[in-house]
Amino acid sequence: MANYDVIIIGGGPGGYVCAIRCAQLGLKTAVVEGRETLGGTCLNVGCIPSKALLHASHMLHEAEHNFAAMGLKGKSPSVDWKQMLSYKDDTIGQNTKGIEFLFKKNKIDWLKGWGSIPAAGKVQVGDDVHEAKKIIIASGSVPSSLPGVEVDEKVVVTSTGALELPKVPKKMVVIGAGVIGLELGSVYNRLGTEVTVIEFLDAVTPGMDAEVQKTFQRMLKKQGMDFVMGAAVQKTEAGKSKATVTYKLRKDDSEHQIDADVVLVATGRKPYVDGLGLDALGIEMTQRGQIKVGADWQTNVPGIYAIGDVIEGPMLAHKAEDEGMAAAEQVAGKHGHVNYGVIPGVIYTHPEVANVGATEQQLKEEGRAYKVGKFSFMGNGRAKANFAGDGFVKILADKQTDRILGCHIIGPAAGDLIHEVCVAMEFGASAEDLALTCHAHPTYSEAVREAALACGDGPIHA
Ligand code: NAI
Repeated sequence: MANYDVIIIGGGPGGYVCAIRCAQLGLKTAVVEGRETLGGTCLNVGCIPSKALLHASHMLHEAEHNFAAMGLKGKSPSVDWKQMLSYKDDTIGQNTKGIEFLFKKNKIDWLKGWGSIPAAGKVQVGDDVHEAKKIIIASGSVPSSLPGVEVDEKVVVTSTGALELPKVPKKMVVIGAGVIGLELGSVYNRLGTEVTVIEFLDAVTPGMDAEVQKTFQRMLKKQGMDFVMGAAVQKTEAGKSKATVTYKLRKDDSEHQIDADVVLVATGRKPYVDGLGLDALGIEMTQRGQIKVGADWQTNVPGIYAIGDVIEGPMLAHKAEDEGMAAAEQVAGKHGHVNYGVIPGVIYTHPEVANVGATEQQLKEEGRAYKVGKFSFMGNGRAKANFAGDGFVKILADKQTDRILGCHIIGPAAGDLIHEVCVAMEFGASAEDLALTCHAHPTYSEAVREAALACGDGPIHA
């Protein structure tokens, strides 16, 4: 069998990006991937397909709610669900084929099948055992299970099943008000489904800035989503086309039931390491089932590395990509590095939600002296013209030094706006640095500048 410098197990955003960088650095590289297409969860059943459905359903929402006011009269479009799914599938196809092209261009071998590691330096795919100087595990994650809830991917579904339902359900219960629950919940809500979200905690999207959490939930409610907060789901009972969800309210332990045509289970994901042979290799794991790695992404077994959802940290495609590039550099004898303090998070609902760095709650817990600069999109001309004035930009800066510590945005294009703050933070910028940077008018980005101004002498348009 062929000998490689590096074999990467998993062709998702972590693995394929790592492979391309390895190849660019002159290493003979192969990727093991068992799916029929490259791109992993993100491209096949995650980020990309959900964004296609979010885009299509947002267009419908605009037509139903904002077209008439702009002088665009006529009947709103009706939903051709089959066509919407085929648009989603085309989007997936274009992206997965794009990676195949990049593999050919960079002379990366795709070893088709599921890989295991019989020993350091060896990767088995089917009956073939390949040799590699370094092995990088990038096998991703799978939805975690919930006791009492049996997923059939028809009536009780994970995000995978929710992306290919045979029809738009009348009633959907979403278990978990995290990123997946709210993104997919809002797709179906906009398509006319009655959506109820059941969440264990008292706030949506755990870990986010509390002010954003409150505003976000209020906006989703206004869009028609229902929330049952502080409720632990006990079980689901599913028939052929309906399910009953039983939950207990934490405040009084009372038990309740709710029926739905489809139940979406979105209560988190767990590392996918089945069948890799990690036990036999003696690879150290964390208590949460993640692979333990050092600062160079190497496990305790020399020559075996791990990146992405299988290790600690947020389960985000772009975090995996960054680790992929950095680990490739480490393997090539360079000094790859990831700044974990500046990893943005984005929720692709409408409006979008984006954050980077510390939340106000974290700064309080750390006892840090900070200041807050906040600006509402209502004061942004472009946002008002586009019916997108709901939401705000909030910048947190060190009280003494003015250095930016975090940013939280809920509003139009938040997922793009956050990146100027990321770059600023990478350069150790102060809020004043942002405030003194000329921002084109009229753009949403002026709201970021105004929030930065609000950390100093004050915003202009508020
Ligand atoms: P999550 O961890 O974001 O949210 C799960 C929610 O379920 C939590 O709020 C939790 O309190 C709740 N929960 C757990 N058990 C429950 C129970 N028995 N009853 C009621 N509520 C319960 O997980 P999610 O949304 O499944 O996402 C998984 C991963 O995928 C996350 O790490 C997320 O960051 C990532 N992801 C990121 C996206 C993005 O960046 N836009 C999009 C989709 C997923």
